[in-house]
Amino acid sequence: MKRASKRKPEKPRTPPVVRTIAKLRRATAELRRRNASIALVPTMGALHDGHLALVRQAKRRAKRVVVSIFVNPAQFAPTEDLASYPRTWDADLAALAALDVDLIWAPTVAEMYPQGFSSRIDPPAVAKVGLEDAHRPHFFGGVATVVAKLFTQVAPDFAMFGEKDYQQLKVVTAMARDLDLRLKVVGVPTIREKDGLAMSSRNAYLSAAERAAAPTLQRVLKDCAKHIREGRPIVDALAVGRAQIERAGFALDYLEARHAETLAPVAATTDEPLRLLVAAKLGKTRLIDNIAV
Ligand code: PAF
Repeated sequence: MKRASKRKPEKPRTPPVVRTIAKLRRATAELRRRNASIALVPTMGALHDGHLALVRQAKRRAKRVVVSIFVNPAQFAPTEDLASYPRTWDADLAALAALDVDLIWAPTVAEMYPQGFSSRIDPPAVAKVGLEDAHRPHFFGGVATVVAKLFTQVAPDFAMFGEKDYQQLKVVTAMARDLDLRLKVVGVPTIREKDGLAMSSRNAYLSAAERAAAPTLQRVLKDCAKHIREGRPIVDALAVGRAQIERAGFALDYLEARHAETLAPVAATTDEPLRLLVAAKLGKTRLIDNIAV
């Protein structure tokens, strides 16, 4: 009979963490040796399975994977949750080690925005369509600026973004195209909890009662999409959906049907590709979600 091995399973190697641009340049030059391709996964930490799906897709696309962890002050309004945004550094490191990520880029705020920093990217048209931008006017300027910096700093061949932040995905894609950046922005489908709630770092803010109500958003999106596919006028389907969301206790910011690429408003009935997008507050927590029609 074979004796069971007493050797402990090997602990995954913690990926190197760099915090300065000078060290990042040296580390990425090393990763790029023999023309190895690099995929970047930009994050603000507090990693969940949605982020890990981005990392897995990144590993399929490129030989090397860099994950950035940076809670970007430029995309939070003074009234928003910058100070309380969940920070789970040790768990993030362990999750990225388990996926064998090559490098973690975790600059300080002073490294990203040194004294005297004053440039800001004016985001493209898709950032000005009356969705997230209408409720968080500072948001896409802050996202576009930090993402442009991350792209310049890491110079990846691919950059992975979740479809959960659908308008953000379109903004970053248009920005990369407009600025002739030599990388491909890759959108990755939303990862959901078993009851349909889209995974988000901000779900951690929900109370038990709010958590139980939260999957309403996806249920309403699915029902609306079905009704529109069956030929109900879009305005009617949305009116029913809005009422259902409000009845479930949400304060609704928007529930809209938009052109899936430009996010422009659409006519009452249309053959254009459509995306349904929703944002609503449950207590203090703002949730967003979207699906294709
Ligand atoms: O989606 C996020 O986590 C952030 O907006 C991003 C893209 C990392 C920029 O800070």
